[in-house]
Amino acid sequence: MCGIVGYIGRQPAKKILIDGLRELEYRGYDSAGIAILQDSGFSTFKALGKLINLEKKSTSFETKGFSVGIGHTRWATHGKPTELNAHPHMGENSYVVHNGIIENYQELKNELQSDGVTFISQTDTEVIVHLFEHYLKNALEAFDAFKMMLSRIEGAFAILLVTTTKKNQIFFAKSGSPMILGINSEDEKFFGSSDAALIGKCENVIYLEDGDYGYLDEKDILLYNKDDKRQHLTFTSLPTSKLSAQKEGFRFFMEKEIYEQHDVISDTLIGRLSDEKIIFDELDDNFLDGINDITFSSCGTSYHSALTASYLFERYAKIKTSVEFASEFRYRSPLLNSSTLFVVISQSGETADTLETLKMAKDAGLKTLVICNVDNSSMVRLADYTILARAGIEKGVASTKAFATQVVVLWMLSLYIASKRKSLDTKEIAKEIKILREVPSKTIVNDELHERIHRLSKRYLHGHGFFFIGRDVFFPLALEGALKLKEISYLHAEGYPSGEMKHGPIALADPELFTIALLPKNMLYDKSKSNVEELSARDATICAISPVNFDKADDFIQISNTQHYMLEFFEMMVVVQLLSMEISIRLGNDVDMPRNLAKSVTVE
Ligand code: F6R
Repeated sequence: MCGIVGYIGRQPAKKILIDGLRELEYRGYDSAGIAILQDSGFSTFKALGKLINLEKKSTSFETKGFSVGIGHTRWATHGKPTELNAHPHMGENSYVVHNGIIENYQELKNELQSDGVTFISQTDTEVIVHLFEHYLKNALEAFDAFKMMLSRIEGAFAILLVTTTKKNQIFFAKSGSPMILGINSEDEKFFGSSDAALIGKCENVIYLEDGDYGYLDEKDILLYNKDDKRQHLTFTSLPTSKLSAQKEGFRFFMEKEIYEQHDVISDTLIGRLSDEKIIFDELDDNFLDGINDITFSSCGTSYHSALTASYLFERYAKIKTSVEFASEFRYRSPLLNSSTLFVVISQSGETADTLETLKMAKDAGLKTLVICNVDNSSMVRLADYTILARAGIEKGVASTKAFATQVVVLWMLSLYIASKRKSLDTKEIAKEIKILREVPSKTIVNDELHERIHRLSKRYLHGHGFFFIGRDVFFPLALEGALKLKEISYLHAEGYPSGEMKHGPIALADPELFTIALLPKNMLYDKSKSNVEELSARDATICAISPVNFDKADDFIQISNTQHYMLEFFEMMVVVQLLSMEISIRLGNDVDMPRNLAKSVTVE
């Protein structure tokens, strides 16, 4: 998740920019850069890895007197983490930093390239600066060129741009990605993509609205809204707590991470979908050579992603899969066969048990792939192939957005393999891709839903246990729902296949047994419904989550009516995450740091 800072004033700009970026480190990043403009021209520094590398590269540089500067921390989405792909991106006389996605960048890039413009990075961002300079060359004023550029780009963005044509100005725009403008009594002006970057530097801020754009210099700020109307400047005072600023208005990191799932899933998808094809630049033509089956190995939530994948892979790619708990696999003398693709799934890339199984597979000569959220982690360094989940740094111990992005990657991978093995035709793949594009919107949390879950949660603070039940991919989702609840509420919860309840657990049914029933319309609805009715008949307390009203339930959470079970999967995922969180909050637990748990389990 990228971070942006900007500064205009007379203090040493390098320190201000890097300090601001340091406050955004919690968002995760793999490279960073700054561009500072003084009378003498631009000074630019970029470095891979941590900010200390950027500091080392710029040790001998200092500004004297007035300067303008922009800075950025980048979490790779479009193009690998390299210095060339790090921001700020350069034109002939200008630099830009950008958060978000320029959806029509390829079309703009083609247009600029045919005009003779050379691109040096793989990013979508670079089109912004070239497009701006293209209009500037047509003898427009810098601000007019900036506006022309804005009128051409589509997608989500927060942008800062500086140019030698106007050495004392910063141009800015916001649409979909956050951007805050701050001032202090010394006439200094700041930008940040989050409060955290501004606390301690300025007291008064404007939270820019979508469609806002403009420019500022030492004296003035010109702010326009989406209708091109000049805005009166209304400042609010900045919060003072850095920790709460990092939570961006949410009570817990877990809550923030649930809410940002639609954004990070968009990042997971970007560049990987065409109308009829899944694109994984990370995989080569030999990837599936000699492969007959797949073994997944992982722990905890990542195990649930693997289990979900096994349904999708067998359904779409028609390839045999097995799913292993890494902690079991490593000690049970498994038979390893070189025709097996060995896939480890891990948010952190450091989980000791999963890492060990990856080593075992490598030693046995198997082809290996890791699906991971952390670039340069131990697993990423070891595996033959890596696909990054792109969830951004996950701080809440209970995993949410990492799970969501893992499942999206695995669903895409099942389609990628299906196309290579020709188990689905182009039309069928195109249909699934259309559905994949709808996933981000299905994970947006609406206030009404959250409020309903909050109200319901007070009825689920006791009882002698919870069963989350579902069929097909909703069984791993049930496991995940139960795990979330256990981790942060400390209440006993189990995930179970709906059809298995009658083989034993139904003996527990009474009003104090809470059943969270996942009832998708598009996957085995009648079968699942009968299973829930069996429980209802025995007086278990039922909370049903479904698009279809269900009169045997004590409580009902309605999700939207869609045409695909995976869209129901992602909507229900958000519901079970929020339900666990609300129960935990009511019980007064520490949602982000539940007892006895650690974010990365590097011991066996
Ligand atoms: C649950 C959770 C854990 C992890 C497990 C594996 O919310 O976070 O169950 O999923 O420890 O961790 P990774 O995915 O980092 O290998």
